[in-house]
Amino acid sequence: MDIKIVTTTAFTDQEPGTSGLRKKVTIFQQQNYLENFVQSIFDSLDDFQGQTLVVGGDGRYYNKTAIQTIIKMAVANGFGQILVGQNGLLSTPALSAIIRKYQAFGGIVLSASHNPGGLQGDFGIKYNISNGGPAPEKVTDAIYEHSQNITEYKTVATDSIDLSQIGKTKIRDTLVEIIDPVADYAELMEELFDFSAIKQLFNSGFKMCFDAMHAITGPYAKTILEQKLGAVTGTVINGIPLEDFGGGHPDPNLTHAHELVDIMYGKNSPQFGAASDGDGDRNMVLGQGFFVTPSDSLAVLAANATLVPGYKDGLAGIARSMPTSEAADHVADALKIDCYETPTGWKFFGNLLDANLATLCGEESFGTGSSHVREKDGLWAVLFWLNILAVHKKSVEDIVREHWTKYGRNVYSRHDYEGVDSKAANALMENLYHTFSHLKGKKFGKYLVEYCDDFGYIDPVDRSISQNQGMRIGFQDGSRIVFRLSGTGTEGATLRVYLESFEPDTTKHHLDAQKELADLIKLADEIADIKKYTDRDKPSVIT
Ligand code: G1P
Ligand code: ZN
Repeated sequence: MDIKIVTTTAFTDQEPGTSGLRKKVTIFQQQNYLENFVQSIFDSLDDFQGQTLVVGGDGRYYNKTAIQTIIKMAVANGFGQILVGQNGLLSTPALSAIIRKYQAFGGIVLSASHNPGGLQGDFGIKYNISNGGPAPEKVTDAIYEHSQNITEYKTVATDSIDLSQIGKTKIRDTLVEIIDPVADYAELMEELFDFSAIKQLFNSGFKMCFDAMHAITGPYAKTILEQKLGAVTGTVINGIPLEDFGGGHPDPNLTHAHELVDIMYGKNSPQFGAASDGDGDRNMVLGQGFFVTPSDSLAVLAANATLVPGYKDGLAGIARSMPTSEAADHVADALKIDCYETPTGWKFFGNLLDANLATLCGEESFGTGSSHVREKDGLWAVLFWLNILAVHKKSVEDIVREHWTKYGRNVYSRHDYEGVDSKAANALMENLYHTFSHLKGKKFGKYLVEYCDDFGYIDPVDRSISQNQGMRIGFQDGSRIVFRLSGTGTEGATLRVYLESFEPDTTKHHLDAQKELADLIKLADEIADIKKYTDRDKPSVIT
């Protein structure tokens, strides 16, 4: 079988964003669009001949078609082995785990994460390096660069590969192996968590509901929660991955995971509720009628880590993205370990984890993870919580409230203005940028501005610099407002406004976050003129 060299012309829009290249399915369906990007990935890599590539996705529309294309191109480009999840499925954290376990050269994740799927929905492709994590900016920049100058790509003419059967096939010199997408991941979870304690918890009548949102975690959650840990059948809802996620928006937050939210806030709710997103790296955690913010979740996991076998020796450090609340910082202070503040996006945690500077990482955007892989990991966070619940034998709400009593509460919320006109959103940020230099020392009611800046980051390991990562305003009482534009959207722009205040007074811990933050919310609008620029009178999603 010969290698085919296909002539192509560059697309101008293949710049990877916060998490790979994400576009409408219809964009990816353009002739050579995917091929150009895949060849640009390979052209940015050195010395992968004969090495292993892992490929899988969240099962959304176009997943299987894209996998066939990628396999053929990986063969033509000289990979020695390609590991592909059965039926083209691999959750993002499972792909990361598999790269690490089999010492693969890298992997390709096909997903647009929590964005809706289907013919009218989104698709995405991301390259992960040999540590299992998303490629750092120097690699994504190189991919973009190659995509701008591409003139040809390599592929082979061969029949479609049967993705449904586990087994090996040889194409030219490449071994293509279809693997069980769940087994390696489940094994890793069993090493980290006290499965027998969690089993006992479920045996004692403890009930939970896990909403897989018709996305990738269905098969993982059924195997681990129902089969291995003995949770009753039916614990996992919406457990069959569908190409369009059942028409839903597979984002585990209070707005989109409403089925779970209704169950958890309804009568006779189970003790624990959780959901994961399209590709399985996000998580939302709920108690009975009680929502745990992702920032609090990171802090609670950190504070209780030594109760979990995989973390019994303690944490090297904690890392959180800049807009994530400072709740984890309080735990780090108490544990006398460092807490790193990184730009938004999981790729910034990779170096810290590799250098063993941090063990747990988290983002306010429902992402939590650790050094076990190099992606955030939804089901891992759920198992971590289950392990803590099995040890404490207290409710989720009690665990969080006791945490607040000890460390204080970082009241937190994010307001998203989705699908805003891009020009208007850029103008808002531009205007903020100009306002910023005058803000320091200014007083707004009880709020005195202590600092305001455009967040930049110097990676402590490789000293690489990332600038323009969001505008932040810090007040003297520890409150913060952060503004940034999303780097993952596919339509218009999304303005994210992150609001946080610190409340040490336990008598106020029961108060509603939106009410507690009302003054800051008003202030954010006043400073950034949100209503004027976006032409919206309220955010589209509040989390
Ligand atoms: C969003 C989240 C960010 C997360 C990313 C990928 O990016 O805010 O924390 O890492 O999705 O899941 P954004 O759209 O804000 O650029
Ligand atoms: Zn995701």
